[in-house]
Amino acid sequence: MLSDKDRVFTNLYGLHDWHLPGARARGDWDGTRELILKGRDWIVNEVKNSGLRGRGGAGFPTGVKWSFMPKQTDRPTYLVVNADESEPGTCKDRDIIRHDPQKLVEGCLLASAGMGVHHCYIYIRGEFVNEAKRLQVAIDEAYAEGLIGKNACGSGYDFELCLHRGAGAYICGEETALLESLEGKKGQPRLKPPFPAAVGLYGCPTTVNNVETIAVVPAILRRGASWFAGIGRPKNEGTKIFCLSGHVEKPCNVEEAMGIPLRDLIERHAGGVRGGWDNLLGVIPGGSSVPVIPKSVCDNVLMDFDALRDVKSGLGTAAVIVMDKSTDIVKAIARLAKFYKHESCGQCTPCREGTGWTWRVMERMVKGNASVEEIDVLLEVSYEIEGHTICALGDAAAWPIQGLIRHFRPELERRIKEYREAASRRAA
Ligand SMILES: Cc1cc2nc3c(=O)[nH]c(=O)nc-3n(C[C@H](O)[C@H](O)[C@H](O)COP(=O)(O)O)c2cc1C
Repeated sequence: MLSDKDRVFTNLYGLHDWHLPGARARGDWDGTRELILKGRDWIVNEVKNSGLRGRGGAGFPTGVKWSFMPKQTDRPTYLVVNADESEPGTCKDRDIIRHDPQKLVEGCLLASAGMGVHHCYIYIRGEFVNEAKRLQVAIDEAYAEGLIGKNACGSGYDFELCLHRGAGAYICGEETALLESLEGKKGQPRLKPPFPAAVGLYGCPTTVNNVETIAVVPAILRRGASWFAGIGRPKNEGTKIFCLSGHVEKPCNVEEAMGIPLRDLIERHAGGVRGGWDNLLGVIPGGSSVPVIPKSVCDNVLMDFDALRDVKSGLGTAAVIVMDKSTDIVKAIARLAKFYKHESCGQCTPCREGTGWTWRVMERMVKGNASVEEIDVLLEVSYEIEGHTICALGDAAAWPIQGLIRHFRPELERRIKEYREAASRRAA
């Protein structure tokens, strides 16, 4: 369990002042000038050595990503912070922005200094109206105190930070669709390569990082890479905000050590599964796009990138959606299929056609109005979508279906059998 002294987000529940004076009293902006003056290579190396992996879902090592940015270029370079947070079940970036916005603002400056970037945009989802207002106040407060802007913190480093509001589309969380949207175009993913570090915003070198990834950077630089790397398991280091929702007694966001057992996480922080652990049906451990795992897997699994990959699921955004035995699992996954159909941008045929087809078949599966062979066709189609699209929305649509069939196939077959029996009774 994470000790209080290792906690990064000390105002996650909004119990203290979120304004600049309150944030400073909690240690934000302490010695930031000195950290900048340690130089670009030092910052990137610290982040590399800390083991920090991106908190936006894919878990790519952050320091490595930063090192892709060109050292010498005559073009502008950008950091873009992804505050689109649209993955169902996920609500951690929102609480960072609401309650600890200065951690994000300071993180933007330090991350930018590490990459030699002088312009940073935070792209926030349109629905976060109040959060955008609050973040703008936090940015204004930092400007007013000279912490950002020309000669940020008196370090001689010039740094501009701009908040941009999206219009509310899941696809705009995908980093290249986000860049398109930021440029004022329709939010549709770009083909990669070229990757944003080479051709990003306005065709210039750009790094896109999640809110939580950037907001933990000041703590890493201040306390040292080895402190962060000492929490969790090898290759899965640090603290992480988990979003616990669904059939738990006390849904909550909580910062914990990476690699905490799932059962501990739920029982310690969310008051346990409604009706007790034995009433658990399954968990979607990392936001709606990762495959569901049944109770038998939940019993012992650890909550980090590698442990969840080993059980054919994923840490994703660490949004833990708990489902007890009252859940209609087929209906739940069908609802997700509807979401992905709705959010597909329509650019790639496998996703545009496949998500709609999948949803329609899933609606029939809910009733049992299907054939057993169609379960295999559904699985086959999910493999045809996965990996065959420009962005990972296709994968996100395919994985919940694969998880359902892998672990709950007997439930699908039971419905089909019952539907057929009821139909023959009606005919007789
Ligand atoms: C459909 C789709 C939606 C996404 N939505 C988000 C999002 O809301 N927030 C986010 O940080 N990353 C999102 N991502 C991942 C981003 O593309 C990108 O990998 C991430 O912002 C990188 O940040 P990180 O390296 O700090 O994790 C999404 C990806 C896909 C395919």
